[in-house]
Amino acid sequence: MAQQIEKVGVLGGGLMGHGIAQVAAEAGYQVVLREVDEATLAKGVAKIEKQLARAVEKGKSTQEDADAVRGRIFGTAHYRELADCDLVIEAITESLPLKLEMWREVDEIVKPEAVFATNTSSLAVIDQAAVTGRPERFVGLHYFNPAQVMKLVEVVRCVTTSQEAFDTALEFARSQGKLAIPTKDKAGFIVNRLLVPYLLDAIRAYEEGVGSVDEIDEAMKAGAGHPMGPLTLADFVGLDTLGSICDVLFEEFRERRFARPPMLRKMLAAGWFGRKSGMGFYDYSGDAPQPNPAF
Ligand code: 3HC
Repeated sequence: MAQQIEKVGVLGGGLMGHGIAQVAAEAGYQVVLREVDEATLAKGVAKIEKQLARAVEKGKSTQEDADAVRGRIFGTAHYRELADCDLVIEAITESLPLKLEMWREVDEIVKPEAVFATNTSSLAVIDQAAVTGRPERFVGLHYFNPAQVMKLVEVVRCVTTSQEAFDTALEFARSQGKLAIPTKDKAGFIVNRLLVPYLLDAIRAYEEGVGSVDEIDEAMKAGAGHPMGPLTLADFVGLDTLGSICDVLFEEFRERRFARPPMLRKMLAAGWFGRKSGMGFYDYSGDAPQPNPAF
C-alpha cells in the first residue's frame, strides 16, 4: 500500500529541480525547494514564476491558480526545512560523491518514515540508497526535461526498495498526471540507455562530416518525426550532463556506443555546456540559435 504524501522536498532548483517542484505544486503538494544559497534559489524560483506567468498569458491557467501554485512552493537554503517532508526528491548535479554527501546530511534531518528518491539519469540507485539509514524507502524517480511538459517518469526499484515505497513512488508520479513506467536499477534505465547512444552517434556523424549541425538536426526532425534534432537535444539536456551520463554508461557496459566522442570532450573543455551556458552545438546569444560559429 502506498504511503500518504502531502509535503515534498526537492533538492536542487536547476534545469530539472525547478520543473519537478513546479509539477508537484501544480498537483496540489506542498513543496520545499532547497538550493545551496539564496542567489541560486532565486534563479530557480524565477524560472518557475516565468512558466506560471506564461501559462496565465496563454489562458492555460488563471492568475488565481498560478498564485496558488506559487504559494505552495517554499524556497530555502537550509536542509532543516525538509524535516517533515513525506517524500524528498534529489535533482542536484549528476555526481555520485556530491549526492552521497548530501544524502548523509539529509538522512539525519528528515523524519525516518519519509521516502527518498533520486532523479539520477544514470547512476545506480542502490549506491545512493545504501548510504542512508532507509535503503528500503529509497527509489528512483526519473523525470524528463522539461519536467512540466514531458509525460514520462521512470520509477526505479533497486534491490532494497520495499513494495510500499515503490507503490508510493508510482502513485506519486501518476498523481501528477505522468505516465509512470517501472524500470530496473540498470544504468540508463530505459530511455537514456537508448537515447544517449543516439545523441553520441549524432556527434560522431558530425565529426565524420556526414552533415552540418543544422543538416543533421533538420534531417532527424523531418525524416524521423522527432520534435528536436539530436544536436539541439544534446544542447538542451546539457553537454556536461550528457558527458556524465555517457561516462557512467561506458563504465557499466564497456561498449563503444556509450564512449564519449572526442568532440564532446573538447567542447566541455571549452566550457560549452549547451543551451544553459549559451554555447554548444548552437550559439544562443542571439534571438534565435545559430550553429556554433567556431565549427
Ligand atoms: N515549462 C513549461 N512549459 C513548457 C516548457 C517549460 N520549460 N517548455 C515548453 N513548454 C510548453 C510550451 O509552453 C508549449 O505549450 P503550448 O503548446 O500549450 O503552448 C509547449 O510546451 C510546446 O513548446 P514550444 O511551442 O515552445 O516548442 P516546441 O513545440 O518545440 O516544444 C519541447 C518544446 C516540448 C521541449 C519539444 O521540442 C520536445 O518535446 N523536445 C524533446 C524534449 C526531450 O526529448 N526531452 C527529453 C530529454 S532527455 C532527459 O530529459 C533525460 C535526462 O536524464 C537526460
